[in-house]
Amino acid sequence: MKPICLPTDILRRRKSCKWATMEPDVIPAWVAETDFAAAPAIQEVLTEMVAISDYGYPTLTDGPQRRLRETFAARERALYGWNIDPCDCMVITDVVQGLYGVVMSMSQENDGVIIQTPIYPPFFNVVTDCKRRLLENPLIQKDDGSFEIDLENLRHLAKDAKILMLCNPHNPTGRVFTRPELEAMANIAMEHNLIIVVDEIHSEVIYNGHTHIPFASLSPEIAARTITVTSATKAFGIPALRCAVIHFGSHVLQHTFKNTPRGILGGVNTMGLHATIKAWDGSCDDWLHGLINQLQENRDRVTAFLKKTLPNGRHAIPEATYLYWIDFRDQNLGGNPARTIARDRKVMLGEGPAFGIQGAGFARLNFATGPDILEEILERLTHEKEVPKK
Ligand SMILES: Cc1ncc(COP(=O)(O)O)c(C=O)c1O
Repeated sequence: MKPICLPTDILRRRKSCKWATMEPDVIPAWVAETDFAAAPAIQEVLTEMVAISDYGYPTLTDGPQRRLRETFAARERALYGWNIDPCDCMVITDVVQGLYGVVMSMSQENDGVIIQTPIYPPFFNVVTDCKRRLLENPLIQKDDGSFEIDLENLRHLAKDAKILMLCNPHNPTGRVFTRPELEAMANIAMEHNLIIVVDEIHSEVIYNGHTHIPFASLSPEIAARTITVTSATKAFGIPALRCAVIHFGSHVLQHTFKNTPRGILGGVNTMGLHATIKAWDGSCDDWLHGLINQLQENRDRVTAFLKKTLPNGRHAIPEATYLYWIDFRDQNLGGNPARTIARDRKVMLGEGPAFGIQGAGFARLNFATGPDILEEILERLTHEKEVPKK
């Protein structure tokens, strides 16, 4: 099934931040949201809820929440052969909330927390807002543009850390870490008794030739020190619906997390809960297959464009995610190319420096849009022309 690519006149009617915060002559390609119509099975469940004004409080831990935990466990088993018990999962409202909850409940003020930079900006906020010590382990960029973990530095930082935060697949570089890479990180975590919190929100948008491996599936010993946070929001384009799942690899970790005051965790959005069940219960698999084909075409189109237009940049070809980490360093666009590009070429990219100091001279292009809009974006990036007011 091919996803429906929404045209700009419809996208500009949306109330969510990607399009609604833009001037009418700017095309947004920044925040990680998609420009496609949602999968029919998700639309159906939401339409029914809207039709009967089903806006009441969510049920608590049983009923649909249990169904979501079971659906999640079944999906992880089917996709990755990862066998988990639904009772080891909790439904929360969003992934970033889960990261905060883990860091707050599993460490003390001033404990060291390692992140792999450049990284999705809230990873910095989680550590600094919680008054933990930020330990940055910059990824190594190779000549072909791809990134890898600096294991030597990780081993060094681990001596002084309590938690290792990982994003796999990695935002913004689009890396899908391989089994040997994950195992090497896991060994370091074991040697230094680290807790690992892994954000796997991008795990369902993986391109040919790459395989997602849940970190906690590496071994029972690793699972026992790993907390996994994920949601259906990225692949299925439903981040407004606020629903995520957190899995604990041991009862001790789960118990410790449960010390987080319940009011701070809030309550899950009922629409999000039911949409996520539909996303993961197999009803949307054809749709997702079509989406990934479209995204892979888009990714390849951007790769060809970069080869021709920015051949000297070291661009990381995404192995997963719909985000392209583009190197504008030889373009004289300054440390924050996204700003200059938004002003002069009327395309809003993600600002590289927001992802850490390694992001200077880079910008992140979200290519989860229809081919026509993508062409318009690339056309604008090519020419420093006057863009007509639309
Ligand atoms: C790696 C990563 N984690 C978390 C999020 C946000 O997830 P949530 O809206 O569930 O907090 C994003 C959104 O772009 C992301 O890229």
